[in-house]
Amino acid sequence: MAFSCQTSQLGAMLNDLAVEIEEAIGRFLVPAGTPVELAEAMRYAVVGGGKRLRPALVHLSARAVCDDGQPAVDPMPAAVAVELVHCYSLVHDDLPAMDDDSLRRGRATLHVKFGEAMGILAGDALLTRAFELLSEHTQDPAVTAALVAELARSAGSAGMIAGQVADMALCEVPPGQAGLEYIHGRKTAALFAGAARMGGICGGATAEQQRAIGEFATDLGLAFQVKDDLLDATATSEELGKTPGKDAANDKRTYPALLGPDRTAEIIAEISDRSVAHLGRFGHAAEPLRALAVYLLERRK
Ligand code: IPE
Ligand code: IPE
Ligand code: MG
Ligand code: MG
Ligand code: MG
Repeated sequence: MAFSCQTSQLGAMLNDLAVEIEEAIGRFLVPAGTPVELAEAMRYAVVGGGKRLRPALVHLSARAVCDDGQPAVDPMPAAVAVELVHCYSLVHDDLPAMDDDSLRRGRATLHVKFGEAMGILAGDALLTRAFELLSEHTQDPAVTAALVAELARSAGSAGMIAGQVADMALCEVPPGQAGLEYIHGRKTAALFAGAARMGGICGGATAEQQRAIGEFATDLGLAFQVKDDLLDATATSEELGKTPGKDAANDKRTYPALLGPDRTAEIIAEISDRSVAHLGRFGHAAEPLRALAVYLLERRK
């Protein structure tokens, strides 16, 4: 992921982090004993092309909450666990029964390449592996328990899955903008907030820091999903690595469909500004998080 930040120092730091995350994903992804066919599908789902935003959020949040920028607990297992949950959600999101997408990260979606049954099962394996990974790194058992709870809550039936159920119109959702906020707040912002709070746990955040960093990441995730919807309506397949126009084709509820592209772009900037305002008390330690918000605002993929 090539970050463009306000200062080249920040850009270099984020790029270094991206390299470390890729290396850790390769190390942690497939446990011994996994059938080679499943291992291949798991690697296909995770390796190659992801922006790695959620693991970056884990690391940068962990650094932002501690005085010396050195978290007491290594955030990397938590960062990889969040990315595995994210990648499983993409594999299932693309299935014919859901968004029925054939292009992801510039390649065929997993079920197109390996079949639908492997799509379901590789997703199951990634979700399960995420929690196994957290349980294997018990530097401090209380921290491990808190990380497991945070990931389960943010990805679970009151978080990301609630959002996916609402996105698929499988439950009651309020009309208009309130409904969109409900859907986006859960299907995307919940895991962003979970990632930031998992970083906070590793960094030993105070309750006040956890609240602020969670609110920052919730708004960041909301802005991110509104931008995802805008890009779906306006970007090309080459830029996105996904098939554009899928939301309209699937009759999805989105900001561009409700309010048009111009008002949608204004809303993204408003929510992004609001996200950064939550970081007011963090001072210089949160500079990389602010840079991440700017990067996401400007992104074209
Ligand atoms: C795509 O997320 C799914 C949404 C929540 C919009 P990303 O845009 O972060 O996907 P990758 O990981 O970079 O492919
Ligand atoms: C996906 O939202 C959210 C999750 C996977 C939880 P989208 O359906 O808009 O994501 P893309 O556009 O397929 O990446
Ligand atoms: Mg979807
Ligand atoms: Mg989709
Ligand atoms: Mg989308």
